[in-house]
Amino acid sequence: MIRNAKMEELESILAFSQGLHGSYMSDNLMLRMTNQLDNVFVSEENSKLIGYGVVSNDKKPKGSIIQVGFLPNECDGNMETMLTHLEDHLTSTGCTAIRANVRKKSPEASIYLQKGYSLKLELDLLECPNILEHIGSAPENVREFGKSGIRGVLKTERECFEPHWRMTTMEFLAWQRLEDRIFLVLDNVVAVVGYILINVCEGDSLLSKIAVLPSHQGKGFGSDLLNAGLKWAHDNGASTMRLSTDSNNLKAKNLYKNHGFEAISQELELEMIY
Ligand SMILES: CC(C)(COP(=O)(O)OP(=O)(O)OC[C@H]1O[C@@H](n2cnc3c(N)ncnc32)[C@H](O)[C@@H]1OP(=O)(O)O)[C@@H](O)C(=O)NCCC(=O)NCCS
Repeated sequence: MIRNAKMEELESILAFSQGLHGSYMSDNLMLRMTNQLDNVFVSEENSKLIGYGVVSNDKKPKGSIIQVGFLPNECDGNMETMLTHLEDHLTSTGCTAIRANVRKKSPEASIYLQKGYSLKLELDLLECPNILEHIGSAPENVREFGKSGIRGVLKTERECFEPHWRMTTMEFLAWQRLEDRIFLVLDNVVAVVGYILINVCEGDSLLSKIAVLPSHQGKGFGSDLLNAGLKWAHDNGASTMRLSTDSNNLKAKNLYKNHGFEAISQELELEMIY
């Protein structure tokens, strides 16, 4: 049976997700779940949690399947039923396209493809396995995010990412409030020209986003931001950092490679248009 999750169940869904996917996404997921409880679903059998699904419709008319997970022996059939439930929910709220990221060559990927999703993007999942070995000197032109920097951050967001990937002011401010999440915006004395968004969780860290204004790219600002991000993550207990990037984004991949990141797997970004 699939039903909406209750607030008091979110901790156990999070633990369930950590068991399946590792801890590095968990703060991000918790933030989404608490802000949008309507978009969290659980699948039960004999009152036991066997799976969950989390979606987002805050970029309507594009919706996203954020995470779906089932106990390994409960995947067959149940995963597909959950996906149909999530799709029905998203379309009933006005979404006309749905995106999802899945591991390449995973059983989940085949389920999505059989359902008719088409390939939008191939992504590389990269990891810096030992942050300590790659921390450079702390750049002086990087500082912590404060409200006064929001305009520069949003400008960077607009100029660097297509609408589906842009974060809103509310999202930036909500993420800033979390203790283990930080924005480092780069200020060349008068103007913010880029930012990085990092999250630390139980020894791992996740680089959610990094961007530099196109007019300032290729001048070392991205490298400064990444140095500051790696240092902050290390100071906050992380020994590794992960991220995913468009497999064709050579600029970003060069930057990451120069800072010790290695490819660990590939993901597919899939889309269904209604
Ligand atoms: C990826 C990005 C943040 C890099 O920022 P940047 O300020 O241009 O990077 P830097 O100037 O510090 O360069 C760092 C490395 O990137 C690589 N790089 C920079 N410009 C490049 C270019 N035009 N072509 C190829 N590689 C390039 C180089 O390897 C450089 O290393 P080097 O110092 O040894 O030459 C920036 O290009 C950007 O904002 N892109 C759009 C948003 C984006 O794609 N973000 C990543 C999402 S995962």
